[in-house]
Amino acid sequence: MSFEPKILGILCNWCAYAGGDLAGVSRIQYLPNIRVVRVMCSGRVDPEFVVRAFLKGCDGIWVGGCHPADCHYISGNREAVNMVNLVRRILKHLKINTNRLILEWVSAAEGARFAEVINNFTNQIRELGPLASDAEKGVDGLKRKLEAALSAVTMEKLRWVTAKQTEFRRDGNRYGEVFTGHEIGRMLDGFIQEEITAQEILLLLRQEALSVKEIAHKLELPPPYIMSMVYALRKKDHLILKEIRHSSPLYAANNN
Ligand code: FES
Repeated sequence: MSFEPKILGILCNWCAYAGGDLAGVSRIQYLPNIRVVRVMCSGRVDPEFVVRAFLKGCDGIWVGGCHPADCHYISGNREAVNMVNLVRRILKHLKINTNRLILEWVSAAEGARFAEVINNFTNQIRELGPLASDAEKGVDGLKRKLEAALSAVTMEKLRWVTAKQTEFRRDGNRYGEVFTGHEIGRMLDGFIQEEITAQEILLLLRQEALSVKEIAHKLELPPPYIMSMVYALRKKDHLILKEIRHSSPLYAANNN
């Protein structure tokens, strides 16, 4: 069976989407694998949209906007760069090929380029295969990781660092400390690991009560690390001690 990728384009109204209109009226042919959602600016694309689209079965996602310095809202496409970098780091953490997400600029006058981006990206995803082929631990494991990532990107910490990173690199934080791109990246990777693991633990404990050792085994992470996460989640009241079995405490998600 040949594989035909499902591709989602989330395109800014003024440039990439208009480039698609031009491709249409100019009768430029392109591969039919893409479905398009129009937004007013690429800066409107929330990381949640992208992670949710992968969770819903998209094999590749193109975020399209106006060329640098052409954004109709001045800095929207710079925000899109930060957002895409964040989601690529999340994909890397989930062991999903980061080439499944692209950010490409197309102007309203570039109908031919619109078609070229779609054709190239479709062929790239054909080579990568379906999203499920990135699931080392099976489709259920991938689904759980994407669900955890979806919850993580709605959390304040990741969104805050993503939104502030341009300012931190240019002007520094409130103490005047200026961060390099590498330092911001390391900070984001730490938060991604922490938030996604916390959400994965909660997802597991919504299904059944488990000990630290059992959680560590399921997530293939060291028990001391899981112990520290469980401690932090308990402190925030996200977990409860459900019972003691064979002298091992079992934890469950706090649904109240
Ligand atoms: Fe097109 Fe902002 S209006 S990227």
